[in-house]
Amino acid sequence: MSILVPEPLLQVRDLRAGYGNVAVLHDVSVEVRAGELLALLGPNGAGKSTLLRVISNLLPTASGSVRFDGRDLRGRSPRDVVRNGLVHVLEGHRVFSGLSVRHNLLLAGYDVPRSERAQRVEEAFAYFPELAAKRDDLGSLLSGGQQQMLAVAQGIVRRPKLLMLDEPSAGLSPVLVDRVLAVATRLKETGTAILLVEQLVEKSIRCADRVCALAQGRIVLRADAQDADLVERIQDAYFGGSLERSH
Ligand SMILES: Nc1ncnc2c1ncn2[C@@H]1O[C@H](COP(=O)(O)OP(=O)(O)O)[C@@H](O)[C@H]1O
Ligand SMILES: [Mg+2]
Repeated sequence: MSILVPEPLLQVRDLRAGYGNVAVLHDVSVEVRAGELLALLGPNGAGKSTLLRVISNLLPTASGSVRFDGRDLRGRSPRDVVRNGLVHVLEGHRVFSGLSVRHNLLLAGYDVPRSERAQRVEEAFAYFPELAAKRDDLGSLLSGGQQQMLAVAQGIVRRPKLLMLDEPSAGLSPVLVDRVLAVATRLKETGTAILLVEQLVEKSIRCADRVCALAQGRIVLRADAQDADLVERIQDAYFGGSLERSH
């Protein structure tokens, strides 16, 4: 009997990339399956944001492949990548301070058919009632945490197949971190795959299906989020990664 295993939604293989002559990612292979939440963990400077930039074609690959939804993404513009259903909420993303919250969301859906746009904005507001209450306020009037929520909501407007969130919790209070991670979990439950980049290990494990850890540009651990002693294993993997580099 043969079992057909579908290709994962996102498949990154043997990826090398960096900035100019500086290599940052070394043979990174990662996959995200349809409908799952993968937490990509790793210390500061590990290369997490670089990996997301390469996946969304904001940065070129030196070698390796990136396939999304059955297609090779190389050579496509970042805008084309978004149109194919892969949305990247950038680290520290800033919203348009001179536009209202609602207009920020309408702008995020600029190429959604006009007749659907208002509906998409309401969908995003349903995830963030605290933003819905401020729909007519200028972006500049939002707190840092609310602006971060708005950045996530802008991603939701696109109804992505895969939403990549780069440290959506950075700078947020613990309560807001939980809010944003709860939204990621709900999105997953509606069938959106999530690639969540985080430094908060325990909280990420709680909402993830699977976990990958990146240290110094290499994947140093892959695990199911339910695996025993995962926090300790991740910490060991970070440490092991740094030892490996010092030889
Ligand atoms: N624009 C850039 N130009 C040159 N080097 C960069 C740039 N952005 C990041 N780096 C370097 O790449 C490495 C990985 O950074 P990054 O991907 O931002 O890590 P992380 O998101 O895991 O904190 C770091 O050594 C960082 O200094
Ligand atoms: Mg980063």
